[in-house]
Amino acid sequence: MPSLAIIGAQWGDEGKGKITDYLDEKADMIVRFQGGNNAGHTIKVDDKVFKLHGLPSGVVRPGKLAVIGNGVVVNLEELEEEIKQVKEAGGSIDGLRVSDRAHLIMGYHKKLDGAEEKYRGKNVVGTTKKGIGPTYQDKIARIGFRAGDLLEDDLLKDKISFILPYKKDLMDMMGAEKCSCTTESLYDKMMGWRELIGDRICDTSVLINDALDEGKNILFEGAQGAMLDVDHGTYPYVTSSATCGGGVCTGAGIAPNRLNKVVGIVKAYTTRVGEGPFVSELSGEQELELQKKGGEFGVTTGRGRRCGWLDLVVCEHATRLCGFTSIGITKLDVLNDIPELPVCVAYEIDGEEVKHFPASIAKLNRAKPVYQNFKGWKGWKDTAAMVKGGYDNLPGEMREYVEFMEKYLKVPADILSLGPDRDETIDRCGRWWN
Ligand code: GDP
Ligand code: IMO
Ligand code: MG
Repeated sequence: MPSLAIIGAQWGDEGKGKITDYLDEKADMIVRFQGGNNAGHTIKVDDKVFKLHGLPSGVVRPGKLAVIGNGVVVNLEELEEEIKQVKEAGGSIDGLRVSDRAHLIMGYHKKLDGAEEKYRGKNVVGTTKKGIGPTYQDKIARIGFRAGDLLEDDLLKDKISFILPYKKDLMDMMGAEKCSCTTESLYDKMMGWRELIGDRICDTSVLINDALDEGKNILFEGAQGAMLDVDHGTYPYVTSSATCGGGVCTGAGIAPNRLNKVVGIVKAYTTRVGEGPFVSELSGEQELELQKKGGEFGVTTGRGRRCGWLDLVVCEHATRLCGFTSIGITKLDVLNDIPELPVCVAYEIDGEEVKHFPASIAKLNRAKPVYQNFKGWKGWKDTAAMVKGGYDNLPGEMREYVEFMEKYLKVPADILSLGPDRDETIDRCGRWWN
């Protein structure tokens, strides 16, 4: 029962979409297990670029089952648009399945997301304003709508009758944008959603576990990254889901012993979108140069991503929490021609050297990066030739950089990415599915 999870090791946007697409060639099923359309996963296939938010990356390859698991929050209005785009680009959603337990993002969740951010004032999180936090709040408060509710008329009407007035009162109290919905209009809208995905709603835990029993290859596609995990990330500057290894089990409905491999995706430097501590962050020209070279602009919000040097304190935290069995290092090509590459190996906090990522935001704000400097690989521009030459012919300085990461994190770097395309990848493992 080969199963493999792909999880971001930093603050998201590590290149999970590209690596998922590379590894899912031999997968039968691709499963999203947390997050929602706050994600923006880019997949480049020849001259086509797919920017996926709510759909699993598997929709790009024909013949795969693409599953939205119970731990995901789904915006069906925006999913409809995305489905249209995928179809227009030649993709297919025939294999799409949606968990009956997945929670639905409603219009009022988006409005409440904006209103909550206003209340936070200078403590603003910088959310994607997609309604992710308010939807997960309702799930925990037991007042959420689940995809399966769309199939049960009486239950749906009953839920609308008490949840909608409650939400409207809350929105009035918070000064949120007004919601023009009535119980009737909301019911009609949800009937449209039933039309859209009703026949794809099922118990995806059974689907996934049956597939595992049959020896099928299952790839679990993480969204966001370990540092945005609601428990283990830079709280409160996090998303509202469990982005680390454990999230695969709760969010897909599988037992821990059914997961074979966990691949951590590490960008060769660090980026983050939105607010919150970032110890190895650059500033001024240096930051802008990295942002420009790496094309670091958000897929979901278009915001410029904050950029900094590789932070191995962050990656150690992620490796420990997610149980990475190997890592995939992306965007190594972006570092081409930078003469010196500082790597953060510890933090100095109040005069002490700290090697484990602290919980306290106050401490993180006082932390200074302790760098170990690496020589860059100057004069290397032809990434196609670099990929063709394989690992052993890569510049010595690049191999030193990679091998230092392996030694620090105690896991092999099984996959290296030197460009956004499928074929700009060096696969040092090859045996992903056995
Ligand atoms: P995700 O959210 O983790 O899937 O990552 P995003 O798609 O938000 O951001 C990663 C960006 O980097 C996308 O534009 C990818 O096409 C691009 N990308 C992925 N891997 C590489 C790489 O190795 N080199 C370069 N130059 N770009 C890459
Ligand atoms: P992918 O899957 C980067 C960030 C937001 C904000 C915080 C909370 O593409 O890596 P939310 O809307 O989730 O309540 O916002 O989390 N964030 C991401 N940053 N990549 C993502 O997804 C993100 N999804 C959410 O910027 O700081
Ligand atoms: Mg992204």
